[in-house]
Amino acid sequence: MNCLYESFYDTVTLQRLVRTLEQEAAINQRIAASDPLNADAIFQRLPILAECNESDGIRQALAEVLARVQGEWDYIACSAAIRDISMLGAALVRFEREPEECVAGFSDVLLALSEQVGAHIPRDSFIDYTSRNPPGARERTFTAMPQEKIFLKSLRLGMSALDLCLIHLLTACTFPIASQEFAFAMHTATASFQAMITAIVQVKREITPEAFTHYIRPFFEPFRVAGRAFSAPSGAEMSILNIDQILWGADCADELYETYFRANIIRLPVIYQEISQAMVGQKSLLTLLKERMELGSALNREERRSIQEIHQLLTRMYTFRVPHYKVAEENVLLRQRECGGGQEIRGSSGFGLVETRYVLDQTIRCRRFTAEILSSINTE
Ligand code: HEM
Repeated sequence: MNCLYESFYDTVTLQRLVRTLEQEAAINQRIAASDPLNADAIFQRLPILAECNESDGIRQALAEVLARVQGEWDYIACSAAIRDISMLGAALVRFEREPEECVAGFSDVLLALSEQVGAHIPRDSFIDYTSRNPPGARERTFTAMPQEKIFLKSLRLGMSALDLCLIHLLTACTFPIASQEFAFAMHTATASFQAMITAIVQVKREITPEAFTHYIRPFFEPFRVAGRAFSAPSGAEMSILNIDQILWGADCADELYETYFRANIIRLPVIYQEISQAMVGQKSLLTLLKERMELGSALNREERRSIQEIHQLLTRMYTFRVPHYKVAEENVLLRQRECGGGQEIRGSSGFGLVETRYVLDQTIRCRRFTAEILSSINTE
């Protein structure tokens, strides 16, 4: 069977997942709007407390908000509370104070709240710092630095771009690759990804490695909950994980990738985990293309168009990942230099540059393959 002529995936499941994912932005907005701990005023003060090394003030603020937690909150309120408690905990860690050791109830509250929302980890993740962080005057930041605002703005932009990209990519997969509908949805997915490039270009231009490494990164260290360390939010928890999985990861058995994927996907909201489950055991789009090329017969117009569109998406991802890798590397090198070298430096996820390089290399490999197909068509 030539699988490019039928949708390879379970169309009904994918359509249901797309509908659920489309509702995620509204859920995030409700969480951003929510302030169940009455912590808005505390977050106005947090950057000043941190700048003045007032770790005791932060400890008191954390104790205050913990005392306001109630048992019967809904998903929205619990999620907003996890965001705020975790940010205050992370601010304490910046001053080398372990929150569970200096604020009574810290671990118990986080464990209870995360159980109520069905989370796999008892702390915040990347979505809390970005899409679930209120915009405007209520925005939660660790510092008063304009660079952190730029960082956050870029990440917010990237988060929503990736969600749109994923929605269109999943929609594409409900159609056969050899169809106009697939190519059209893929084209829209690629257009949505563009904002990731805008985001990294802005960060690269406006945030020096020194500004990030010295002032922002220290707030992204692990803290302990019930004696176990949980890493801080990181870019590795973006829905680009799902996009890679659909393009090339679903049937990739590299141990490095599997470990990285498993560790990070569980930190995303449940819909992203469901999408990843729907892809388990499936062939990735790149494998489907390989199988099609092995048939040896000429590609029809729809197939050529779809391959061009997949190539375009890979090109956009490559255009994001090259400068992003450079930014990440510059920060790691600076930290290495300042630590006196020799020491292995990890990102806030607990993974290092190896994984970031790996996903870039996979993008390059896949893009080379689609480029080869396209150049063979042009020389026919
Ligand atoms: C100063 C700016 C930045 C630095 C220093 C930085 C650094 C890093 C590091 C070290 C990692 C490895 C995982 C980890 O954190 O443990 C990573 C991963 C990642 N970051 Fe960033 N990052 C920055 C800005 C951004 C921005 C603006 C975006 C998107 C809008 C972004 C998106 C990602 C993604 C998607 C990953 C996972 C790897 C991939 O899929 O390519 N990062 N980043």
